[in-house]
Amino acid sequence: MADANSNPLRRPLQDGIVPEEIVAQTEKRWVMVMSAMLAIMMAIIVITGITGALHPSSNVEVVDPQTLHLKGEFVESNLGTAIEPDGSVTVRIIAEQYDFVPNCVRVPVDTPVKFRLTSADAIHGFLLPDTNINTMVVPGFVAEVRTRFSKAKEYQMPCHEFCGLGHQAMWAHVVVVPQEQLANVEPVVGRAACEQ
Ligand code: CUA
Repeated sequence: MADANSNPLRRPLQDGIVPEEIVAQTEKRWVMVMSAMLAIMMAIIVITGITGALHPSSNVEVVDPQTLHLKGEFVESNLGTAIEPDGSVTVRIIAEQYDFVPNCVRVPVDTPVKFRLTSADAIHGFLLPDTNINTMVVPGFVAEVRTRFSKAKEYQMPCHEFCGLGHQAMWAHVVVVPQEQLANVEPVVGRAACEQ
């Protein structure tokens, strides 16, 4: 008859090996921790989805896309770079098939910059690489993004939401210039803004 010890399942556990009940207990605890984490994450997704995120990512301001050119903040004379009394800068841009108006804006370095964008037609996208600027531009809403550029640089960025057949030709140019170059800027609409 074989010795009990020859059956590997009956052999006594070596030192350092945790008995089955303890393993089961630990696993049960971990399952509970993981379930709690999943439940919390699901709750966060559902609650923020319901209460806070059912709108374009940056803003809930609404605007009538049909009358942008006629009245309000986005009339042509008000587009482009504007210097606020506190020295910060606001840039207003309309995205439309298939251009940004103005499609070139100049902003000062080391200054708080607020972009306010809206669309006249389809959904467009506005993204400046290596910055926190990345927003959809949705007709009917004003997208607002704030940033501060740390160095003078020219950003050229295509619209990054497919908006129609001319999508790939729709580019925004944002030129970050030294502060003194923007002291008395007049908003300039169109490509001329980049050639000043
Ligand atoms: Cu505008 Cu793609």
